Amino acid sequence: MSSRIPFNKPFIAGKELYHIAQAVLNGHLSGDGHYTHRCAQWLCGYHGSQRALLTPSGTAALELAALLLDLSPGDEVIMPSFTFVTTASAFALRGATPVFVDIREDTFNLDERMVEAAITPRTRAIVAVHYGGCACEMTALREIADRHGLTLIEDAAHALGAHYQNRPLGSFGDLACLSFHETKNLISGEGGALLVNRADWSERAAILRQKGTDRERFLAGLIDKYTWIELGSSYVASELVAAFLWGQFEQAETITVRRLQLWENYRKLLSCGEEAGWYRLQHIPSHCRPNGHLFALVARFPEEREALLAYLKKNGISAVFHYVPLHASPAGRRLGRTGSRMDVTERISACLLRLPLFYELSTEDQKRVADTIIAWYQHERG
Ligand SMILES: Cc1ncc(COP(=O)(O)O)c(C=O)c1O
Repeated sequence: MSSRIPFNKPFIAGKELYHIAQAVLNGHLSGDGHYTHRCAQWLCGYHGSQRALLTPSGTAALELAALLLDLSPGDEVIMPSFTFVTTASAFALRGATPVFVDIREDTFNLDERMVEAAITPRTRAIVAVHYGGCACEMTALREIADRHGLTLIEDAAHALGAHYQNRPLGSFGDLACLSFHETKNLISGEGGALLVNRADWSERAAILRQKGTDRERFLAGLIDKYTWIELGSSYVASELVAAFLWGQFEQAETITVRRLQLWENYRKLLSCGEEAGWYRLQHIPSHCRPNGHLFALVARFPEEREALLAYLKKNGISAVFHYVPLHASPAGRRLGRTGSRMDVTERISACLLRLPLFYELSTEDQKRVADTIIAWYQHERG
């Protein structure tokens, strides 16, 4: 029996362990030391952001974004329902109502053609989730946000290294949230960052991240004591995490190239099944450059997805499904509402499965995954 192929495997790409040792030797393990500054500089350079704030997770970055908006109960934030829980909970924690809009049939991203109809006088922001590193239609979303005076936030948890019209994702929103969770392209175990793309929000974002204090100015020697000035929280990442992350940033290009190779290889190996009508793959528009973050198949029926997942498991392959739509989940029903019909979200979420995809996945194992899928369709489904 061949060995099990995991769904994900965290990895070391270069000098991560060396940098962690250096952080310890530097004698600075809390946040905002040498490695945090290097990572922040790298992120600002890559995205052209005003500021990059390392956070303990992508979720923390979303919560910090929500704090910045000064939301009041009854304010509304438009987002897809086909996304991770914390895209919504970050805003609901501030008392806002998530308003769920359906996704596109082709890219599985927020359907920008349905957003305007969901806007009300209480709408404050639109959250664009770039599913699997495929860009949302950012020109249209920016235009809608500007016309209605709304904040545009990118949930770019999947999207570091991906582009829209040759510009990096994370550079389009007023704010953008990144994740470095171990399942992402560039990792630090847990970790995230808030990119602030508006100069006038930069200083306040730093204050909210530092427990609502002006500690950053104090540490820079600009004031002689720091004090509580805003309602913030502790959204600072440790230097140990930043040191590991810096090792990944040094190898960012190599990592992205490898993930894209694996992603393209899956497409080659599995396109015959799409042509045969067995399943569908995510469509990537020609003006979007993905980052190989995830590879998904959409089966014809929910039962077919369940049967294929079980068959893969029996053959030692860990594939997974996601997302349970937020609008239909207990907390989503209680705290949010729908702003459009939801049929695409419901169909895709019931039929989508994700294949193993990680930096060290071998081409042989990848072929085994694809061969197992194709054999199942040929012999079991026809
Ligand atoms: C779309 C999306 N947003 C936000 C997050 C939250 O990121 P984290 O796990 O770093 O908190 C995730 C995590 O998987 C995600 O997929």
